[in-house]
Amino acid sequence: MPHRRLGIGFIGSGFITRFHIQSWLAVRDADVRGVWSPNRDHAEEAAALARTLHVGEAQAFDSIEAMVASPDIDCLWICGPNHRRVENMEAIAHTLETSKGELIGIACEKPLARNVGEALRMVELVKQTGVLHGYLEDQLFSPGLQRAREIAWARGAALAGRPYLARAAEEHSGPHTAWFWQAALQGGGVLTDMMCHSVEVARFLLTKPGAPRHSIRPTSVSAQIASLKWSRPEYAEQLRARFGASVDYSTRPAEDFARATIAFEDDAGHPLIAETTTSWSYVGAGLRLSSELLGPEYSLSVNSLDSGARVFFSRAIEGEAGEDLVEKQNAEQGLMPVVGNEVAEYGYEAENRHFVRCFLEGRQPELDFHAGLDVMELLMTAYMSAEQGRTIPWKPDNLANFMPAVVRGTWQP
Ligand SMILES: NC(=O)c1ccc[n+]([C@@H]2O[C@H](COP(=O)([O-])OP(=O)(O)OC[C@H]3O[C@@H](n4cnc5c(N)ncnc54)[C@H](O)[C@@H]3O)[C@@H](O)[C@H]2O)c1
Repeated sequence: MPHRRLGIGFIGSGFITRFHIQSWLAVRDADVRGVWSPNRDHAEEAAALARTLHVGEAQAFDSIEAMVASPDIDCLWICGPNHRRVENMEAIAHTLETSKGELIGIACEKPLARNVGEALRMVELVKQTGVLHGYLEDQLFSPGLQRAREIAWARGAALAGRPYLARAAEEHSGPHTAWFWQAALQGGGVLTDMMCHSVEVARFLLTKPGAPRHSIRPTSVSAQIASLKWSRPEYAEQLRARFGASVDYSTRPAEDFARATIAFEDDAGHPLIAETTTSWSYVGAGLRLSSELLGPEYSLSVNSLDSGARVFFSRAIEGEAGEDLVEKQNAEQGLMPVVGNEVAEYGYEAENRHFVRCFLEGRQPELDFHAGLDVMELLMTAYMSAEQGRTIPWKPDNLANFMPAVVRGTWQP
């Protein structure tokens, strides 16, 4: 009997779709068979990338409906911009409800949506379809982080007691397309864009391997946001020159720095702390993901730029600017880190293997749309705290209707 193979279709054909497609070299039992994006040429390019890498006979589809209806497609990876999430999910749900196609699983990129109201709608829609669902948080699958967590818990926590403090940070010099910078489209600034990762990494580190996600519960959130760099006149001008008038940080900035301290407690009532820091105002070699876990007699730390491989270019080497050494690269000279296999190191390979395996076996992944909703509730509470300048006890009322000031255009940095 030949193995069952899943056919995967991508919604969106941007940066992250290309990352996922590259990671497919390390994914078994599933092929990339489709891409839909409103820009047909881009969808064709992404499909061609899949064919060139021999990860599937992918074709560009004319619509989400056509992709869902295709017998070649069993699962969808939602990778469009944040402001199209609900619309994309509604198109999927509507097609399934009118019996125009069948799906086994849907995986959605971070963040699940722009706010809690939309995240609730995503959960409602996916439950309506009855399809398995996953929340794509690649960083939990980073091999170094996963292994260090296993060891810290197996050796350290087993003998000395559970860890109590997790730190997680994601920092780079700013996103690559205009919609990320527009709070109304993206859902906020760096807090929604990147703290979704850090919150989930910290939660993952503090949760005992094998224990349910809700074995640690938030008790309060304290946060701060700031515009440190991009609303300065010269940098606001740079953004305008690069992205056009729609990105005007002199009149409508979003935060480029956010930090949150989230207090949790475990089943035994132990206090636990997650410290998360994210910024679009970090200029180092490139994207830096760092995390730590501290317990009574042990600690772990991971830093994606400490990759072990480096290259050096003297001042005589004046090549083009690129992103060939590391994601969000800021320099091409001097001593530069090289991340050997970015799609593996950041977690995409293991992430996609995991979700494919769950969907093939008909298993609901634990990292699902509910997890994406949990993260969004914490992020919106962080905005509330930053706006009100106080620690917010968990869980605040009215989260479903909360809209950050940065999105409403009333935020004063
Ligand atoms: N896991 C990560 O670390 C990570 C990294 C980058 C982006 N992301 C997430 O992935 C998503 C896409 O980000 P990106 O970097 O690829 O963005 P991008 O701007 O590079 O690409 C966006 C893509 O969406 C397509 N698109 C436009 N309108 C659409 C619509 N109505 N429906 C569906 N697609 C549409 C565009 O054609 C483009 O191909 C975002 O939600 C982002 O937060 C996650």
